[in-house]
Amino acid sequence: MHKILFPVSEAYPLIKTGGLADVAGSLPPALKAQHCDVRLLLPAYQQVLDRAESPKKILEIYVPESNAHVRLLETVLPGTDVTTWLVDHPESFQRPGNPYHDDNGRDWPDNASRFALLSRVAAMLGLGSTNLSWQPEVVHCHDWQTALVPALISLASRRPATVFTIHNLAYQGTFSAETFETLHLPGKLWSPEGLEFYGYLSFIKGGLAYADHITTVSPTYAKEIQTPEFGNGLDGLLRHRSTQLTGILNGVDDSVWNPATDDNLVANYDASRFPEKQKNKLALQREVNLPANPDVPLLGLVGRLVSQKGIDLVIGALRQLVQMQLPFQFVSLGAGAQEYEHALAELMLKYPQHISVMIGYDEAHAHRIEAGADMFLMPSRFEPCGLNQLYSLRYGTVPVVRGVGGLADTVIDASTASLADKSATGFVFAEATVSALVETLKRALDLYQDQAAWQRLALAGMAKNYSWRTSAEQYLHLYGTLIGTRT
Ligand code: ADP
Ligand code: GLC
Repeated sequence: MHKILFPVSEAYPLIKTGGLADVAGSLPPALKAQHCDVRLLLPAYQQVLDRAESPKKILEIYVPESNAHVRLLETVLPGTDVTTWLVDHPESFQRPGNPYHDDNGRDWPDNASRFALLSRVAAMLGLGSTNLSWQPEVVHCHDWQTALVPALISLASRRPATVFTIHNLAYQGTFSAETFETLHLPGKLWSPEGLEFYGYLSFIKGGLAYADHITTVSPTYAKEIQTPEFGNGLDGLLRHRSTQLTGILNGVDDSVWNPATDDNLVANYDASRFPEKQKNKLALQREVNLPANPDVPLLGLVGRLVSQKGIDLVIGALRQLVQMQLPFQFVSLGAGAQEYEHALAELMLKYPQHISVMIGYDEAHAHRIEAGADMFLMPSRFEPCGLNQLYSLRYGTVPVVRGVGGLADTVIDASTASLADKSATGFVFAEATVSALVETLKRALDLYQDQAAWQRLALAGMAKNYSWRTSAEQYLHLYGTLIGTRT
């Protein structure tokens, strides 16, 4: 039974801002189901403490370089039997707002020291330098917040293997060079081959330069990030590490995202009861104050309102669809950049018969949009994997996506040929332009008029099986290889 430590900055249902939490809430139980002894390590944010089942202190750790006394609390990931350790340091983690920024969207000024502390505790547990008797064979880290762990661990002679998963290369944890000093990081790590990035301190380079193996969350994104277009300045390093860089697709957690059992819906359904989906559409139209009409195609969007997600393309396309007087409705849920929030809210005021926008974060509503919409928009500029298109496929809500990253790996465009051989599952376009999105939406709205063809397309998506079991098998294989090469 492999022993894996899984340090991460968010995990559903304890704390979630995006897909990283979905992965950290689903992959560990999937690994556990395959007889892997996996332990999650998370910051004890206030919200985590509120939601965790009776956390109990198992250890006190002094972290000298951070001058921090930390309590390690043990609980389980709710709804699972995955042991979860919480790094309790109130000064760092107990504050209102989001894990990464305050209520006004400003990054917490002490993010470097907060996540260095999380990483240091992970490294100490990884190296067995605390009083805990459990020691992992692999430490599997995620994104910049835990990327220092492989760097810190690399300095020890007897050490576990390290895996670093890139969920999003655009967020790198870049801080001033002085921060390297104030964090008291080992001098050996400061070099262009190490944590230095053009004179700055880069947390993510800790993972990219020092992990034994790097994964990302789709095969296509694994290739894309080795190019200047998607590499965010790190493509050279990633090319250098290409033999230790692989893509493993995310999956869908059936216990959370399943239209047959989802208790957020007014009517449950599956492929054999597909017409029941209509009830969710009508309920959604009523809920968001759009005319309740089963025949008008309803477009949905849920996500962070940031440039990555191509929100500007959606705004431009919506304006054109209204001008062209095409029959459609649009419902969205999300929060993010103010310019997008304002532009969407303005469209809703101007076209209340067509457009309904909710600014904010609401998990139950996200489920109702997935179930009630006819199609789901994800015109991302880049998308490491994307979970919403997988949920859409599962819910028979046809995804309209840009063919990048995980979207390219999971959605098959409805061409004449793919419709004929029934392999089509959605609509895919190439150029990140408003006109390309509009053309694709016109194709989708056209096909929607042929309800039999539309239903075949939706059912083909529902028949896809992106399970965490498959992904967990691939991670286990990787762990096994790494452990094998170390012993
Ligand atoms: P990313 O991680 O880049 O944000 P993903 O598609 O991988 O994109 O995952 C996003 C996850 O966050 C999905 O589970 C989605 O439903 C959820 N989500 C995003 N925004 C919201 C919101 N405003 N309200 C509820 N859930 C949201
Ligand atoms: C990131 C990516 C998203 C991915 C998620 C989980 O937030 O933007 O594409 O699905 O991580 O891996």
